[in-house]
Amino acid sequence: MCGIVGYIGEKNTKDILLSGLKELEYRGYDSAGIAVLQDGDFQSYKAVGKLVNLEEKTKDFITDKFAVGIGHTRWATHGKPTELNAHPHLGESSYVVHNGIIENYAELKQELTNEGVTFLSQTDTEVIVHQFEKNLKLTNTAFEAFKQTIHELHGAYAILLVTKSEEKTIFFAKNGSPMLVGINAEDEKYFASSDTPLIGHCSDVNYFEDGDYGYVTNDAIIMYDKENRAKEPSFKKLSTNKLSAQKDGYRFFMEKEIYEQSSVIADTLLGRLTDKEVVFDELPASLFEGINEIKLCACGTSYHSAISASYMFERYSKVKTSVEVASEFRYREPIMSKDTLFVVISQSGETADTLETLKMAKRAGLKTLVICNVDNSSMVRLADAFILTRAGVEKGVASTKAFASQVTIFWMLSIYLAKRNDTLNQDEISRQIRLMREIPSSVKVSDDMHEKIKRLSKRYLHGHGFFFIGRDVFFPLALEGALKLKEISYLHAEGYPSGEMKHGPIALADPELFTIALLPQHLLYEKSRSNVEELSARDSTICAISPIEFDKADDYIKTKTHEDYMLEFFEMMLVVQLLSLEISVRLGNDVDMPRNLAKSVTVE
Ligand code: G6P
Repeated sequence: MCGIVGYIGEKNTKDILLSGLKELEYRGYDSAGIAVLQDGDFQSYKAVGKLVNLEEKTKDFITDKFAVGIGHTRWATHGKPTELNAHPHLGESSYVVHNGIIENYAELKQELTNEGVTFLSQTDTEVIVHQFEKNLKLTNTAFEAFKQTIHELHGAYAILLVTKSEEKTIFFAKNGSPMLVGINAEDEKYFASSDTPLIGHCSDVNYFEDGDYGYVTNDAIIMYDKENRAKEPSFKKLSTNKLSAQKDGYRFFMEKEIYEQSSVIADTLLGRLTDKEVVFDELPASLFEGINEIKLCACGTSYHSAISASYMFERYSKVKTSVEVASEFRYREPIMSKDTLFVVISQSGETADTLETLKMAKRAGLKTLVICNVDNSSMVRLADAFILTRAGVEKGVASTKAFASQVTIFWMLSIYLAKRNDTLNQDEISRQIRLMREIPSSVKVSDDMHEKIKRLSKRYLHGHGFFFIGRDVFFPLALEGALKLKEISYLHAEGYPSGEMKHGPIALADPELFTIALLPQHLLYEKSRSNVEELSARDSTICAISPIEFDKADDYIKTKTHEDYMLEFFEMMLVVQLLSLEISVRLGNDVDMPRNLAKSVTVE
């Protein structure tokens, strides 16, 4: 999804903007651009496709003195991914970059067009710069014009604007889309839509809140809140660790992130387990008081982890639990009762639909909790309580380690609640905790396993579709396996509860229909096995993933024998992730940045 960077200072502005955009690449984009104001003149460059195209276009552009610059990676919403639609957008003497959606852009555009303004792009963003210049003619001060413009916009935005009428200034506004400003001892100012581009450049950062707007020069940050009251920035130290942002010798970030899961989960567990209980110091003691029900809401992979949670919360903690896709929940006029704990799950903490459901729950007076990977993200700041998954920066668009850490948190939370609700005895709680400590070793990738999957993958490059099937928590894992495959291989795949196949999908069975069967030893093995036999009898090609050899399968990936189905879950998760990865590699696809997808979906 779109990314924003901005810079004021004396260093090489072009390089700073381009390397900042590079850090945001993983979020997904289809065009990019920069605009730099130096010695009273603007230079702007845009290119469709990957950043190398923009680098090529700007190779003779030199920025060697004080300048202000803004940059953007665009993921098309209004208008095709063309150079004209790429940001920054120009007015007469100002440029703007924007993330989000201006909902009233059509009305504003109509008015401006009637007044004689010519639009070059099909974007909603372009109205911002023209509206600003219209107001500039009326007010004569750039800040007043900017302020008025912001008040005329409806929708979600993070905006940076630079103008010749204030050469040393970047104007900013934030509402609904994330943005932060960073400072350092050298009087430089950096902007970005997430903190990664600022690591290594800034010591401290201020995360803007919804409604914040103002301007920044090299020596001042002038800021106002949504009530137009002057506001001081609230700076926080920025981490200096960039290691996690590199590939460490793996072919792809996704591969590195799959391999990292063992250490990631060890981090997720760290300090949260004693032999007798799960401890979440970050949860206020009162959070579960008066709660009779849990509602989980999320999108994509996070939605799948939420489904797995619903099985665990009901089984272990005996709390009534339901799960919702955030984009559906938003508009279906749901009944929200105050004895429900509203839990949102999000890797990024910025997904627009999920964020909106959190706001709805808050407005309805429900207690809220977010399970999130990004500290200081919009959801973390908004919810009553949060649990961080500690997965580290996830760069692969196809989520892997974030999912693993989310399911780990849910398992822990279900046992935490079981203790609180007295629904499991102490021996069982202690056993569950002992099992959790084994997750890191159950998700270690062995050379043998990876080699086997690599070899097998060549047999799954065609066909008319894949069914991933499983029961109980292996059903959301089947959904997740199918999603992984779809995302990076572009092959058609669906996840199904094993028992549902005979109610329709089995009609598709033939040798060109590939069934990836999750057959854990410790959860409904016989039932699942019968479902796979039904498919095998109809000649579907079967790839069984199980610790128990299965003679009806065409291919068989042997997993280890574990004491409990949850550990089988984690190992099978590894298998489906690696299978998708290797199929995608063989098909020659861009594993880390699959077509049409964005890492952080900040528009609905
Ligand atoms: C996008 C990503 C998915 C992710 C989903 C939800 O679609 O491509 O990988 O699962 O958003 O994102 P979140 O950050 O809220 O978990």
